[in-house]
Amino acid sequence: MAVVFTLAFVLAAGFLHTVDCEDNGLGLFPPLGWNSWCTWASCGQKGASGKMHDVCNETEIRSVAEAMLSNGMHALGYEYINLDDCWGSEERAADGSIQADKNRFPSGIKNLTDWLHSKGLKFGLYTSAGVTTCSSGERPKPIPGSYGHYEQDAQTFADWGVDYVKIDWCNTKVNGTELDYEKVHTEFSKGLNATGRPIFLGLCRGYPYPPPDYTRQVANAWRVNGDHHDEWSKTAEIIELMAPKEIADFAGPGGWNDPDFLMTGGAGCDEAASTHCPGMTDTEYVTEFTIWAITASNLLVSTDIRNLTDIMKTILLNEEVVAVHQDKLRKAGYRVGTWHCSDGSAHCQLWARPLNGGAYAVALYNADSESHDITFEFDLIGWSGEATVRDLWAKKDLGVKSGEFSMKVPSHGSVFLKLTKPT
Ligand code: GLA
Repeated sequence: MAVVFTLAFVLAAGFLHTVDCEDNGLGLFPPLGWNSWCTWASCGQKGASGKMHDVCNETEIRSVAEAMLSNGMHALGYEYINLDDCWGSEERAADGSIQADKNRFPSGIKNLTDWLHSKGLKFGLYTSAGVTTCSSGERPKPIPGSYGHYEQDAQTFADWGVDYVKIDWCNTKVNGTELDYEKVHTEFSKGLNATGRPIFLGLCRGYPYPPPDYTRQVANAWRVNGDHHDEWSKTAEIIELMAPKEIADFAGPGGWNDPDFLMTGGAGCDEAASTHCPGMTDTEYVTEFTIWAITASNLLVSTDIRNLTDIMKTILLNEEVVAVHQDKLRKAGYRVGTWHCSDGSAHCQLWARPLNGGAYAVALYNADSESHDITFEFDLIGWSGEATVRDLWAKKDLGVKSGEFSMKVPSHGSVFLKLTKPT
C-alpha cells in the first residue's frame, strides 16, 4: 500500500531550541563507544551451564579496545570503552573508598585507564546512586553503590582517570525512604566537578519521563527509558519514546538523550563467546541505528565488537550515517509525522533532522508488519524546490527529486536519506 505524508501532519516547525546544560565542557557531540553490558551475558551473571561468562575483566576489556582500534570503529569516532555493573569489589577499602574486583582487574583500574588513554581511547565506569548496584540481587553478595560516598567516589573516579560515569538508580530506598533523585544527581554532579577532572556524566533513571529540566543542568546524558533488550518489541517501544519534538529539543551540545545501548548484531550467547545470537533481524538493527543516529542519541554499542558480523560492519562502520549522528549543527531529529499504513494498528513514519549547511537527514520508518511504499512531501520538513537525494544505507545517489520522494520500506525497516540542494 502506498503511503503519502501530507501537510495534515505535524509540521517540522522550527528546530530551534536553547540548551542549558552541564557546564563541564564535555558532550559537545553525542558520545560514540562501547559498553560491557549485554555482551554475551549480563556482567556477572551465569550462563545456562552455571559458569560466569561475560566481558568484564581487564584482559577482555583490552581485547575489546584493541578491536575498536583495528576494526575501523575508532577511525570513525567511537572512543568510549565503558564498564557497566559488576566491575566493583563487594567490599569497600578500610578508608571507605570504592575498589575494583581484584580477580577481574588485578592490575587495577588506573593501569587500564592509562593504557586506554595511551591508545587514544576514553574510559567509563558504572555506579548506582543507591546502597548497592542494580544487579546485586542476582549475586551471592551485593556490590556497593555510591550512596553515602558520592564525593569520595567522584574523587576516586577522577584519580583513576575515568572519563565517563554512568550513575544508575537502584536500591535507593534508605531507611524506608526513597532518595530524592534531583538532590542526589546534583550532589554527585557537583562532586565530579569538584575533582577538577572533566567527567562525562550519564544519568540512568530515577526521574520520570520526559526527564525533568534539572537533568540537563547536571549531566551530559540521561536515559529516557527502561532497559533496551535485544528484541524488537523493546526497540519499537523506545522509538515511540524518542519520537516527540519535546524530547529532541531537550538535547543539544553538552547533553544528549540516551535511549540505552545498541544491540547491533545480537547480544550474543552466554555460553559461546564467539557466537552472536541475534534477537532481531538485520532490518530491525538498521532501524535501531537509524533512529538512534537521527535523534543524536548516545551511541554505545553493547554487543561483541571483537567479532563483527556482516550486519555489524554494515551498520557500525557506515561513515555517512555516523556523520549524520555527529553532524556539526547538533540538532536532534524527531518524528515529523505518522500515517496508518495498513489496518491502523501500525504506522509509517517520517523522521527528520536538519544538518549543517542546509542539508536534511530524513528517515522513512515502517513500523508495520508488512512492507509499504512510503512517499514524503518535501514541504513537510520545510524544504522547497528540488533536492538531491542520497540513500545513506545503500551509499547510493538517487538523483534530483522535485517536491516528493517515494520508496518501498520493508516491515520494521527504515530508509535513511540525506537531502541536499542540487548544485
Ligand atoms: C540497570 C540499568 C542497565 C544496567 C544494569 C546493571 O538495569 O538500567 O543499563 O546498567 O542496571 O545492573
